[in-house]
Amino acid sequence: MPHRPVVILTHPMPEDWIAPLREAVQLVVGPAGVAGVAADLRPHFGEVEGLLTWLIDRVDEHLLAEMPRLKVVSNLAVGVDNIDLEACSRRGIAVGHTPGVLTEAVADLTFALLLAVGRGLFTAAEDARAGRWGLWQPDAWLGTELNGSTLGILGLGQIGQAVARRAHAFGMRVLYTSRSPKPEAEARWGAQRVPWETLLAESDFLSLHVPLTPATQGMVDAEALRRMKPTAYLVNMARGPVVQTEALVRALQEGWIAGAALDVTDPEPLPPEHPLYRLSNCLITPHIGSATHLTRRRMADLAISNLLAGLRGEPLPHQANA
Ligand code: DGY
Repeated sequence: MPHRPVVILTHPMPEDWIAPLREAVQLVVGPAGVAGVAADLRPHFGEVEGLLTWLIDRVDEHLLAEMPRLKVVSNLAVGVDNIDLEACSRRGIAVGHTPGVLTEAVADLTFALLLAVGRGLFTAAEDARAGRWGLWQPDAWLGTELNGSTLGILGLGQIGQAVARRAHAFGMRVLYTSRSPKPEAEARWGAQRVPWETLLAESDFLSLHVPLTPATQGMVDAEALRRMKPTAYLVNMARGPVVQTEALVRALQEGWIAGAALDVTDPEPLPPEHPLYRLSNCLITPHIGSATHLTRRRMADLAISNLLAGLRGEPLPHQANA
């Protein structure tokens, strides 16, 4: 009988998504509703060879030390800020992630949020539902249109570029700040690379698409927010800690900027009593950038392919560490 390695899936997923994994390995599934690799799974740590993690699970030196046979960590996300990549590399553990398959879904939601926050859709819809829709009025519920506005994109990776493509089609001027120039985006969508300070000062909409790293953590702080136009909107599709939450609350309360739409927050989830929920110029969605039927299924397929390749000792289709 072929060797069936022990694999921990940290939380339950739809059975039809994980069927190929169940066939190939001895699958141990962790509990729902608790972030992290549950302590209940500890009896399996000595044997486990593969870990399939969610972005809510921290994989650090401490955990790795308890898993001497671990060969591969496969993260069901493109972002890998929840995983200590260096610690994995030191131990020869491959780390997989899911770029590419979620690009279009995340870019779509970025545009949904740009439109929603720019046109005040959420407050207008709430007003209508609450009976505050009186006679039509020419100066009520006025917003900002995308056509002719400047979109600033922080991070022009695959998702940032898919956002730039949409922005071009919407008639927006596209600026970006990125570690390296992107000549193709410049040629195809007229994107113009500018310093961070210029991006802040000139954007009508600022959209964040950088990974969370020590360099990007807290990048949108009070100083950055004060540099933005008072009519500008911030959209965060990256990771919550890229924005300093307390500074953002002040910026929205005191009118340093016009509004924000956040698909990611710090902390996450944002507790129901958080002041951001009380601000009518802040729209919050629960980290749903990649949440379409098609994309989440593709992410699961890719995460399983990464995991199985790692168990076989082969290069992963998408590996995040060297
Ligand atoms: C990711 O993949 O990193 C997203 O944040 C969730 O899809």
